[in-house]
Parts: sequence; C-alpha cells; structure tokens
Amino acid sequence: MFENEYTLIMIKPDAVADGHTGSIIKRIEDEGFRVRAIKYVRLSKAQAKEFYKIHKERPFFNELTEFIASGHLVAACLERANAVEHWRKVIGATNPEEADEGTIRKLFARSKGENAVHGSDSVENAQIETDFFFSRMELVKE
Ligand code: RTP
Ligand code: MG
Repeated sequence: MFENEYTLIMIKPDAVADGHTGSIIKRIEDEGFRVRAIKYVRLSKAQAKEFYKIHKERPFFNELTEFIASGHLVAACLERANAVEHWRKVIGATNPEEADEGTIRKLFARSKGENAVHGSDSVENAQIETDFFFSRMELVKE
C-alpha cells in the first residue's frame, strides 16, 4: 500500500492555537497517510529562519518567521504513495481565499500568512525538512 514517498508537514501555530490539531490529524489518517514521526514543539526565531531560509529574500520573510516562532506547532513526517503532491492537494492554495472547498486551508486557515499547515514542495525538500525536525533515532524508514 505504501510506496515509500515521504513528506514533511507542519500544523502551524494558528491552527494549533485555534484547536484544529485533532481535525487535521484525522484528515491525515483519512487521506491514507501513515504518520512515521511526529512532534509538538516551539521553534526559536533562529530555528524558524533556518527552516524557511529558501524564502530569506522574500518581503514576507520576517512576518513568516515571527509567526512560525510565535507558538507551538506540530511537525510530522508522513508516508504515502505520491505523498508530496497528495498532501499539497489536500491543503489547497497558499491563500485560503483561493483554496478549493474542502481543503485544509479553506477550512482552517486564518489568512495567507497564517495558513494552518505546511507541506514540502518536492521530495528533495521533504528530506531536508525531515532532517531539520527529526534525528535518525526518531525516524526509522524501513
Ligand atoms: P508552505 O511552504 O508553508 O507549505 O506554503 P506554500 O508552499 O503554499 O507557500 P510558500 O510560497 O512556500 O510560502 C511559505 C509561507 O509563507 C507565508 N506567506 N506569506 N504574506 C504573504 O504574502 C505570504 N506569502 C507567503 C505563508 O505562510 C506560506 O505558507
Ligand atoms: Mg512552500
């Protein structure tokens, strides 16, 4: 059933604070993902800047990293066939006003900046982002 593709997801501080963690984890299971590793953590500003360094030249970088460091989040490594693309379909467009009905961002995001969830944008970045959050001991890929 699982074809060994992984993605790194976050339930961002807005969705955790708004009480959507359980609903989003239920959706993860309903979409056929297997949770391979999961943690509830608060990032420092420096850690948030490290995680999102690909966006460091973007005008929203400071706002984004302040927000990500503003409270606890849930990070998880998920396995599924076509995991990266499927999760991005499930979460919807970056801006919830443009997200399709039924997507996680349409259902739960506050705004384009505070948009409930993250998903890796490629298999290569999924590996980099998974290594950011999880040690080898915490994530055994068999
Ligand atoms: P993510 O990386 O968090 O899954 O989101 P994404 O691919 O849909 O969007 P991306 O372009 O990678 O942007 C990363 C995050 O930055 C925030 N953002 N704010 N205020 C703005 O115009 C703006 N644009 C992007 C969002 O939190 C977005 O998810
Ligand atoms: Mg992105």
